[in-house]
Amino acid sequence: MDMDALAANFLAGGPAAFIRRSDFGKDFVFGSATAAFQIEGAPDKDGRGDSIWDVFAKENNLFHPYHEDAVNHYEKFEEDVKLMKEIGFDAYRFSISWPRILPTGKIESRNQQGINYYKRLLTKLKENGIVPYVTLFHWDLPQNLQDEYNGFLDRRIAEDFGVYADVCFQEFGEYVDHWITMNEPFTFAYSAHVDKVHAPGLGTVKDHLFGTGTTDTAKSTKTEESSNAVDNGVDAGADEDDDDDDGGSIFHPSRSTVHPKSTRNKVMVFKATGSSWASEAEYIDEFAYPYIVTHNQLLAHAKAVEIFKQKYQDPAKKKKIGITLVSMWFEPRNPDDEKDKAAALRALDFFIGWYLAPLVHGDYPQSMREYVNPDHLPKMDDADRKAIQGSYDFIGVNYYTARYVAHSEPKEKHKKIGRNYVTDQKLKYYESRIENGVEVPIGKDRGASEWLISYPKGILGLLLYIKENYNDPLIYITENGIDDHDDDSARLWTSFFDRKRVAHIHDHLIYLLEAKRQGVNVKGYFVWSLLDNFEWNNGFHARFGLVYIDYNNGAKRHPKLSAAWLKRFLAENGVSPAPGSSGNSGIPVDSGVGANNNNNQTSAQTNSPGNCFSPIFVTFNGIKDVFAHFFLNLF
Ligand code: BGC
Repeated sequence: MDMDALAANFLAGGPAAFIRRSDFGKDFVFGSATAAFQIEGAPDKDGRGDSIWDVFAKENNLFHPYHEDAVNHYEKFEEDVKLMKEIGFDAYRFSISWPRILPTGKIESRNQQGINYYKRLLTKLKENGIVPYVTLFHWDLPQNLQDEYNGFLDRRIAEDFGVYADVCFQEFGEYVDHWITMNEPFTFAYSAHVDKVHAPGLGTVKDHLFGTGTTDTAKSTKTEESSNAVDNGVDAGADEDDDDDDGGSIFHPSRSTVHPKSTRNKVMVFKATGSSWASEAEYIDEFAYPYIVTHNQLLAHAKAVEIFKQKYQDPAKKKKIGITLVSMWFEPRNPDDEKDKAAALRALDFFIGWYLAPLVHGDYPQSMREYVNPDHLPKMDDADRKAIQGSYDFIGVNYYTARYVAHSEPKEKHKKIGRNYVTDQKLKYYESRIENGVEVPIGKDRGASEWLISYPKGILGLLLYIKENYNDPLIYITENGIDDHDDDSARLWTSFFDRKRVAHIHDHLIYLLEAKRQGVNVKGYFVWSLLDNFEWNNGFHARFGLVYIDYNNGAKRHPKLSAAWLKRFLAENGVSPAPGSSGNSGIPVDSGVGANNNNNQTSAQTNSPGNCFSPIFVTFNGIKDVFAHFFLNLF
């Protein structure tokens, strides 16, 4: 059957594309991913220090209506490892909380109780045969380092990060073969230092573009308390930045708030005291923040890699170190327009090339050097280049969504406020484009997060782009997933019977397999996320988990349909998308993907999901059997 026929069948609800775990090969790992601040809770337990997220979340009331312990993985980690095991995962990606290991961020504060906690977790994983992939920095910087020298705005962060990494390599090295230095340095640079919706909540670009700021303050370091409200979700497709009314936005469709009730009236005070990235500079231009934060993240990453390679890596390099980068996929809004085609490539440069180009080729992408104010983009001197270039054994890729992009010159009123990350790119982002006179959205299924539109085909485009432009690295998909609203009335159907998530994962796996077949060196896939969790500026209002967390009942765990689906898939039974799933992407598989369809359908249908799925039914007294039947026979 050819590709188009398969897609047509799928869309018509006919025989869908079946995939098998074994199609991916024996050395391909499947896992789920989490991050310390999003699941652990226990902020004051066993000597942990404050991170910038403790402060930011409290100041902005992000824990409402629950609290910082909500998911409580700190206490329940054994139960969570058991769940992973029952689903059938090979691997688990989690992050270590820097302030649990070094509460002040400095070696003098080394905290044995925090270290012991992760040893208990790693031991449990080992007992269950689950391989750890460990991230050192998933945004929870010790608050003390933010207070002392403005965190990642200062070059000193590289030394402190190196010291922290060294402790982790030493203490956990016997358990860990795969280290990830940083998670999504892009998001930390953009959402926390341009968009101010993530800790430490810096950046006033939007205030200036929307007219609440002035040219003068745009150019000075912020030293005063700010009472500017954090912007509540203007990003995706919003049009507050121009008068064209063409549906486009000059903003990255990134983190917006999903719940109108989450109020974030205050942002953290930025206590700049003159310390800066360049020791001779008196202050940092605020519009340079993301570029400087990026540079210092790369230096910190490189420092950790240097220490790892010098002291801990085995000669055969069985132990590996890498970095996790995020990117959307971009298509030109008008595929026949040369400017839009260049715009799509430039959008990739400003997202993932920003990191890959220095890591692989030793400098920022040519387009950034051309488009960004040279006073803002740090120069890559020889020492920095030497440290950064080639400092990875693998690249982790987080992929969630895609957009159409078009070339767009900044408007005069925007030019007046000064060059900044938003207008530097000369891009506009769109959720749809016109094809044969009809408006076609880039994807049909949406997450609860405004920015998340499912576009499975994008994972193929992104992986081929990385392979071709960045020396064909070893890649792990370290995150991919979709979220649901935490909506009381729809909780039962949209949360437990998460067919949208099943379709999302299934369709991405199809394209991932295709990428592998086209020669991409991809060796793993991690679902974001194992558990519903604290979704940053969206608080607990967005649910990304394979396992439902009942926040009102002691964070009780209830595996969802997607967990049951994955259990079947991982147990090597052919699985199809959930009935009624959108299949909005079409299925571009070659004949190999569908080849194993029918012979496995019977065993899949008779295979019980197992007892880890029984707790879910307790919630629905009386109709338990109906749901059980539904679950067991769905596939
Ligand atoms: C981050 C996760 C986050 C997920 C969904 C990724 O950018 O690494 O921490 O929860 O996306 O927004």
